[in-house]
Amino acid sequence: MIIFDNVWFNYGSHQILKDISFSVNSNERVTVLGGSGEGKTTILRLILGLVKPDSGKIFINGEDITDKTEDELRQVRMNFSIVFQEGALFDSLNVKENVAFCLREYNKTMSEDELDSKVRELLRIVGVEDAIELMIEELSGGMQRRVAIARSLAASEPKMFLYDEPTSGLDPINADNICKLILELSQKERGFIIVTHKVFDALKVADRFIFLKDGEVVFDGNKEKLVKADIPDIKLFMEELDFKISI
Ligand SMILES: Nc1ncnc2c1ncn2[C@@H]1O[C@H](COP(=O)(O)OP(=O)(O)OP(=O)(O)O)[C@@H](O)[C@H]1O
Ligand SMILES: [Mg+2]
Repeated sequence: MIIFDNVWFNYGSHQILKDISFSVNSNERVTVLGGSGEGKTTILRLILGLVKPDSGKIFINGEDITDKTEDELRQVRMNFSIVFQEGALFDSLNVKENVAFCLREYNKTMSEDELDSKVRELLRIVGVEDAIELMIEELSGGMQRRVAIARSLAASEPKMFLYDEPTSGLDPINADNICKLILELSQKERGFIIVTHKVFDALKVADRFIFLKDGEVVFDGNKEKLVKADIPDIKLFMEELDFKISI
């Protein structure tokens, strides 16, 4: 369970989040929507304790993380599988080493054979086992995103997934495949928070939508309410859908 309790956050004089409050259960499928620069990535960074609120509290599984040490935060992060914006893979390493890197970080006693079979297992889950020896630049955008997801799974047995713009920059078919993968991985009551501006993909995967505008939560509700919301910025987002349907 994630709770934001009256969270304020700024970068210098730039106020990013203003009095944000919400709570998300670990089995929920949530999308945080909002335009560029609205603070979507910042919300994920706050959940992971990578940045701290200026005021307000953040609770993860009942524990206030705002005053935790770096060692304690590492434990908190183990609850999550995290796919950063654009995948953030290491271009100088091949697919195997990108995934193995995280496994080594978390499990220093693994033999090379164990490592190899674990990497293969993770790549199989996301459907790119055949690419194991390829360099990142040899992969399509969709495959890179899959490798990034495999790498995020290496970290732990996550209770929840956090995805930052998982379908951005992908063609509609690859974006749809990533949506399906996200849904598959979220079985067994493991929910997710996706932050994105792609409302079309968000509607495919999430049950709950939180909309950020000017640092505030201006909407928090289900799909039916979102499509009917009488909020100008949400209506603008929905025009993407009207456009897709009308052509
Ligand atoms: N390290 C930083 N130092 C200063 N300002 C930052 C920093 N990181 C982000 N910002 C600013 O904070 C605001 C929110 O950033 P954030 O990355 O959370 O937005 P976002 O909603 O994820 O945007 P996008 O859709 O473009 O990914 C932006 O205006 C950004 O320029
Ligand atoms: Mg972002």
